[in-house]
Amino acid sequence: MTAPVEAIRFDHIDYSADGVHILKSITGAIPEGKITTLVGPSGAGKTTLFKLCNGLQSPDSGEIIIKEKRIENYEPIELRRNVGIALQKATMISGTVQKNLELPSKLQGKELKEGRANDLLKMVGLSEVSLQKKIKDLSGGQRQKLSIARTLVNRPDILLLDEITSSLDSVSRQDIEKLIEKINDQYGTTILWITHNLQQALSIGHYTWVMMDGELVETGESNFLRNPQNDRVKQFVRGEVE
Ligand SMILES: Nc1ncnc2c1ncn2[C@@H]1O[C@H](COP(=O)(O)OP(=O)(O)OP(=O)(O)O)[C@@H](O)[C@H]1O
Ligand SMILES: [Mg+2]
Repeated sequence: MTAPVEAIRFDHIDYSADGVHILKSITGAIPEGKITTLVGPSGAGKTTLFKLCNGLQSPDSGEIIIKEKRIENYEPIELRRNVGIALQKATMISGTVQKNLELPSKLQGKELKEGRANDLLKMVGLSEVSLQKKIKDLSGGQRQKLSIARTLVNRPDILLLDEITSSLDSVSRQDIEKLIEKINDQYGTTILWITHNLQQALSIGHYTWVMMDGELVETGESNFLRNPQNDRVKQFVRGEVE
C-alpha cells in the first residue's frame, strides 16, 4: 500500500505564549482528501494548532508543511486560498448574505458573480435564502452554513473547522455533518475538524488525533477511539464513547 499524500505535516512543533508551553513537539501528518477529527480536553491546544496553520502565529521551533511547501514560503493570500477556516462563532459583518459572501473576493480585489454566489448557497443547502436576506434574520444553523459557503469561495484544498456544530441543535448539527461529508466527497477537500463530541469524531472521521496537555497522544483510523491504547486517552473516552 502506498502512503497517503500529506496535506499538512507538523514536524516537532513547539509553541509557547506568555511563558506557557502550549504545544509540545507535535509531529504528524494530516492525509490529503480525508476527514481527520481532532479531539481532546479543553485547553489541550487544539485551537492553537489551527492558529499556526493560519500563518497568524509562528511556532517557536519545528516546521509546518502544507502541500509539500513550508508555511513560511506562502504569500498570505495564497495561504488563505489553500486553507479555509470556520469557527464555532461564525463572524459576520452586518448587512446582507451577499455582502458576507463577497467578502473573500473583495479582500482580493475581485468580484463574486451572482451566479456563483447562488451556486455556493445551493451547495451548502441555503438555496431558499436570498442573497438580499439580512444576516440578523438567519438562524444559527443558517449562519454556520453561510460561514462554510464563504470559506468555499476560495475553493480551499484544506478546511479547518473549529467546533462548528457545538452551539447547534441536533438537526442542524446533522445537516452540517452531511454538508462537510459532501464537500469532502465532491471536491476531495481535506478536512481537519476539532470537535468535543467524541461520537461525532468517531462517525465523521476517517482518522482521529487526540491531543492532551499540548501533546499529540494517540492517532489512527477513528475506530481506535473505541479501544484506545494510551491510558490517558482511555480515561478521556471512558463513558463518552460506547
Ligand atoms: N495568548 C496566550 N497566552 C497564554 N496562554 C494561552 C494563550 N492562548 C492560549 N493559551 C492557553 O493555551 C492552552 C491551549 O488553548 P487552546 O485554546 O488551544 O485549547 P483548546 O484545546 O482549543 O481548548 P478548548 O477545547 O477549550 O477550545 C490553554 O491552556 C490556554 O489557556
Ligand atoms: Mg479551542
